[in-house]
Amino acid sequence: MEKVNLDWSKLPFGYMKTDAHLEYYFKDGKWSEGKIVEKDTIELSMAASCLHYGQEAFEGMKAYEHKDGTVSLFRPDENARRLQSSARKLLMQEVPEDLFIEAVERTVRANRRFIPPYGTGASLYIRPLLIGITGLLGVKPADEYLFVVFASPVGPYFKEGIKPLKFRIEEKMKRAAIGGTGDVKVGGNYAASLRVTKKAHDEGYAEVIYLDNEKSEYLDESGPANFFGISKDNKYITPKSETILPSITNKSLMTLAEDLGMGVERRQVHVKEIFDFVEAGCCGTAAVISPIKSLVYQGEKKLYCETDEPGPKSMELYHLLTSIQNGDAEDKHGWNHVVKMD
Ligand code: PLP
Ligand code: COI
Repeated sequence: MEKVNLDWSKLPFGYMKTDAHLEYYFKDGKWSEGKIVEKDTIELSMAASCLHYGQEAFEGMKAYEHKDGTVSLFRPDENARRLQSSARKLLMQEVPEDLFIEAVERTVRANRRFIPPYGTGASLYIRPLLIGITGLLGVKPADEYLFVVFASPVGPYFKEGIKPLKFRIEEKMKRAAIGGTGDVKVGGNYAASLRVTKKAHDEGYAEVIYLDNEKSEYLDESGPANFFGISKDNKYITPKSETILPSITNKSLMTLAEDLGMGVERRQVHVKEIFDFVEAGCCGTAAVISPIKSLVYQGEKKLYCETDEPGPKSMELYHLLTSIQNGDAEDKHGWNHVVKMD
């Protein structure tokens, strides 16, 4: 089947209507067969629990075309389990892992014309979405749910791609509370971050890095991605905190850093350590690795990149991760899940 005519290497990270999405309904205690739907709208009660009380969780993952035409997903079982953990936290119906994988594979197959060709740097972004659809007024969980999976071809989240970007530490505002929902992927966390991100953009920064909720002394993460720093003694260091979303990309980078002989530490990271790191970056499915050019804290700027070239360790990790995802490097951890296309 011929691909759609797009300028693949110039794609932004944005929504585009594709050929179809998948819909699964949970009603009367069971999940329906998935239905392929061509329009890109859903019909919903205006009293649905997702709209008023935020019973909503989502995932983000990518499908990659390899040189030989194989299409693979990166660690989809991890996304399936994380959606289950989000569902548990909001008292939503969990999506079984095999149903999740089936839905994502069917969505990829239904949108094969939109899978960016190998070598373009673009990929097919897949957005699984779980929402409570029971119409209600009292604050309580829905008993009916809709699991939707749609896809859109995308380029890098930060339009500069692998070019290092300016970030600042956010000293006051928080995206998630201790004991709240920071460790799961639910819409409210992103709504809470919009104000800060807008302000940061207006000030010329790509994004912010949040601090912990208790003391505002330890690094958390960014709005759409985890944070990592590289120490002088060749360690990959990433913050540990209960308000951080456990990133699948970060988990993979920790393994790859070990494979490359680097030390790996996941622990509380004091904000002042940013002045000791030799490289820093953000990582996530959408962001891949976004190297940090400079990071500002209390008016003091730490410069990681003198030019627009990312640091050598960030580049090495970026190349290794993306080469595995694109099928160019050996997938020795068995992370690629091949999608049967017929
Ligand atoms: N942190 C937040 C808040 C995110 O939204 C994302 C994106 O999914 C990540 C981190 C990165 O997670 P992953 O690597 O699983 O995409
Ligand atoms: C992802 O990286 O997949 C995400 O969901 C982040 C999102 C804010 C674009």
